[in-house]
Amino acid sequence: MLDEKCKVLVHQEIGSGYRYLIVEAPKMAAELVPGQFVHVKVPALEMSALRRPFSVFDATDGMVVILYKTVGRGTAALNGVQEGDEINILGPLGHGFPTECSGTALLVGGGFGVAPLHFLAKRLPGKKILFAGGRTQNDLLAIDRFQLIPNTELKLATNDGSVGAKGFVTLPLDETIAELKAKGEKFELFTCGPDGLLKAVTDRALANDAPGWISCDRHMVCGVGACYACIQKTVRGNSRCCIEGPIFAAKDLIWE
Ligand SMILES: Cc1cc2nc3c(=O)[nH]c(=O)nc-3n(C[C@H](O)[C@H](O)[C@H](O)COP(=O)(O)OP(=O)(O)OC[C@H]3O[C@@H](n4cnc5c(N)ncnc54)[C@H](O)[C@@H]3O)c2cc1C
Ligand code: FES
Repeated sequence: MLDEKCKVLVHQEIGSGYRYLIVEAPKMAAELVPGQFVHVKVPALEMSALRRPFSVFDATDGMVVILYKTVGRGTAALNGVQEGDEINILGPLGHGFPTECSGTALLVGGGFGVAPLHFLAKRLPGKKILFAGGRTQNDLLAIDRFQLIPNTELKLATNDGSVGAKGFVTLPLDETIAELKAKGEKFELFTCGPDGLLKAVTDRALANDAPGWISCDRHMVCGVGACYACIQKTVRGNSRCCIEGPIFAAKDLIWE
C-alpha cells in the first residue's frame, strides 16, 4: 500500500455533477488492478475529516484517473482542487476483479459504477459487452471512453428511453444472456452500481450458474480494515468491503 502526494494534472467537469480527476502517481498506477480503490484526502478538509474512497477509472502511463459524482461535503470540497495542486492518495486498497474471463465478459454498470468497469474492460482480453444504465442519457457516463476499447460492445438503457432500451439495464442484459445460452456460449458477469443492480446481477449469475463478480461499495471510514464500518454479509460471516472486498464472488454474497 502506498501513501502518495500526487500532482493533479486534470480536473474536468463533464456535466450532471460528474468530474474526472487525473493525478500523477506512477508507482500506484503500476500496482493497481481493476476493482481496487484509492482513499483520497480532501485538502480543504485535511485537518478534520476522513478520506473518501473512489474506484479507479483508469491507471495508465503513470496516471490514476477517478470519475466522481458530487454528492456531499467531501466531494463538494474536492471540487475546489485545482490543476497543479498536490493531493494525498492512499492505495491500492481492497481486492480487485479477476482479469481473466472464460467466455464473454458481461460488464453491468449503473451511474459511477461504470468507473471500475472501464479499467477492467481495458485489462480484460477477449470479448466484452458493457451494459450501462441510468435514469436519463445524462446518467450514462464515459460512453465515449468505452467506445475506444477494442472488442467492446455497448448496450445502453435509460428509464426515460432517451438513449438505448427504455427501462432497466437488465432488459438488454437478459436478452444477451438468453442469446449466449441459446448458442451454448460461456459468460461471466461483472458489476458495480446501486445495490438493486448488484442484487439483480447476483441473481442472474446464480440462476445461470455463471461466475459473477460484484463490487460492494459500502460506506467506509478507515478504508484499511480497522473500523468494521463497511460490512457486507457473506457465507463467511461479516466481511469488510475494504479488505475482503470490494469485489466479492456472487456465490459468496448474502443479501438481506
Ligand atoms: C469502494 C468504493 C468505491 C467508490 N467509487 C466511487 C467512484 O468511482 N465515483 C464516485 O463518485 N463515488 C465513489 N464511491 C462513493 C464515494 O466514496 C462517496 O460518494 C463519497 O465518499 C461521498 O462523500 P461526501 O462527503 O461527498 O458525501 P457524504 O456527505 O458523506 O454523503 C452524501 C450522500 O452520499 C451517500 N454516500 C456516501 N458514501 C456512499 C457510498 N459508498 N455509496 C453510496 N452512497 C454513498 C450518502 O449516503 C449521502 O446520501 C465509492 C465508494 C466506495 C466505498
Ligand atoms: S472502512 Fe474501516 S474496516 Fe472497512
